[in-house]
Amino acid sequence: MTGYKQGLAFRYLQGTKYHRDRPISDDLGSIPAPERFKNYPDAERLQLPEPDLSRPADLWQCLARRRSERDTTPEPLSLGELAKLMWAAQGVTARAGIHLLRTAPSAGALYPFETYLYVDKVEEVPQGIYHFDVADFALERLQSGNFNQGFTAASLGQPAVQKAAVVIIWTAMMLRCMVKYRDRAMRYIAMDLGHVCQNVQLAASAMGLGSCPIGAFFDDDFNELLGVDGEEETVVYLITVGKLR
Ligand SMILES: Cc1cc2nc3c(=O)[nH]c(=O)nc-3n(C[C@H](O)[C@H](O)[C@H](O)COP(=O)(O)O)c2cc1C
Repeated sequence: MTGYKQGLAFRYLQGTKYHRDRPISDDLGSIPAPERFKNYPDAERLQLPEPDLSRPADLWQCLARRRSERDTTPEPLSLGELAKLMWAAQGVTARAGIHLLRTAPSAGALYPFETYLYVDKVEEVPQGIYHFDVADFALERLQSGNFNQGFTAASLGQPAVQKAAVVIIWTAMMLRCMVKYRDRAMRYIAMDLGHVCQNVQLAASAMGLGSCPIGAFFDDDFNELLGVDGEEETVVYLITVGKLR
């Protein structure tokens, strides 16, 4: 049999349904316990300032103004603006046992993703590729330099990426979620990152910045730029942010 119902999209959703009358079974074998956080201990660190949350933003206005904006200016973001974006994405807001609870929900509090940044134009932050350390609210520098061409080409040449002051990039940490949810994991990883990305868009909206979620890119080009294996950890989503005209 051929046709769309035999395609991966249909088979994935059908094959990962929970059923009252059928226990879950799969052939995945045992899944190794993964690390809950990723760190780059040898990387140069840049501590982000505590975000200034004192100025209120009206949620209804932020929602009403939220838009995907691709035409941002060459003006840099401030370090304070970057800190607020990162806090909106994955700020720690409470502790519950071993869990660091965040600004966005996550199925089973597993947070099965890592956050990276390509900083093109941010005051006080040298251009380069960074990993975001959630627990310490810090950036770990993986590579210094201008990677604008590489990230733009890896994003199918999208001008939003070429113009962005910063590109925030999320990888799926497959085992972190599969260890609990097995094959259903990809549903939750996608949902989790939808929440995270929306938080960033609303924070951008609150600060009058332009942002655009990006789902179209050459996956393995991004994996190579970040230095991740593309299997157990693979890029799934990004968002561009910059100043509006
Ligand atoms: C999962 C996802 C992937 C997207 N990928 C892209 C993309 O690759 N390029 C782009 O220009 N916009 C992308 N967008 C933005 C959508 O085009 C945009 O949200 C849609 O046109 C509605 O416009 P609005 O966000 O301004 O309301 C993406 C949005 C989502 C949610």
